[in-house]
Amino acid sequence: MATLMLSPRGGPALGTLLRPLCSWADGLLHGMAQPGTWDHFYTQQDTAGTPSHFNWFFDYTAISGLLLPALRECGSPEASPTRVLDVGCGTSDLGLGLYRDSPHPVHIACVDVSPVAIRSLHQLLQEAPPPRHPLSQIHLYVADATDLEGGGFGDGSFHLVLDKGTCDSLLRCPKGPGQAGRLVAECLQVLCPGGSLLQFSDEDPDARVPFLEQVGGAGVTVQEVGHIAGICYYVYTLGRPALETPTSGALD
Ligand SMILES: C[S@@+](CC[C@H](N)C(=O)[O-])C[C@H]1O[C@@H](n2cnc3c(N)ncnc32)[C@H](O)[C@@H]1O
Repeated sequence: MATLMLSPRGGPALGTLLRPLCSWADGLLHGMAQPGTWDHFYTQQDTAGTPSHFNWFFDYTAISGLLLPALRECGSPEASPTRVLDVGCGTSDLGLGLYRDSPHPVHIACVDVSPVAIRSLHQLLQEAPPPRHPLSQIHLYVADATDLEGGGFGDGSFHLVLDKGTCDSLLRCPKGPGQAGRLVAECLQVLCPGGSLLQFSDEDPDARVPFLEQVGGAGVTVQEVGHIAGICYYVYTLGRPALETPTSGALD
């Protein structure tokens, strides 16, 4: 299982980090908003046609202690499945890990613009162990996360939306901020009232919080996930406010 880390937006360490890795690093750096770039990237990961998970920043085990309680908090009070969307899933083990480990029923949708990534993830899913809860489900989709509604994901469909590195990659493109803003808006739109969007990133709160407040509204919270290889990672949480319960005064 491979992992790739990026440094803060526009920071000089980004190219330095990627350059020694392989020859496609430059293409990746300049074309993160283009689907063809990601197809090429994930094709390179499948050595001899055998897919393996590729995890941006860190893998599922690094954040499972944070995600499993978040699932419980966001889920519906009745025993119906908690609906989770992983935007720009790539071949990360995030969705499969939650599907495998959740003690409560979960319906997980993994979305990526790259058909190559989704094909590889599908192969990995075939070899995955069964879910801990027999009613849990996982589905994979090739779709543009900046147009989730166009991809058939309705308003208020999910309790929890996860983004690990996808907003980061859009922000690093020349036209990125606009697309990253659309991504955040779409993620919030598909959340049900009381649901949460969790963004995992290495970007410093000084830069990320103002961006998220501008595109997603007030109420952004930040928590350190931890340090890996000297880089600090954060989880940024945005919510879709729960529907207000009318008070008796409001009905008068
Ligand atoms: C930095 S990688 C992160 C992958 C994965 N989340 C992980 O943690 O390893 C960014 C991912 O976003 C996907 N992506 C980029 N633009 C997208 C878009 N508009 N819609 C859906 N996925 C997109 C790429 O194909 C790539 O898999």
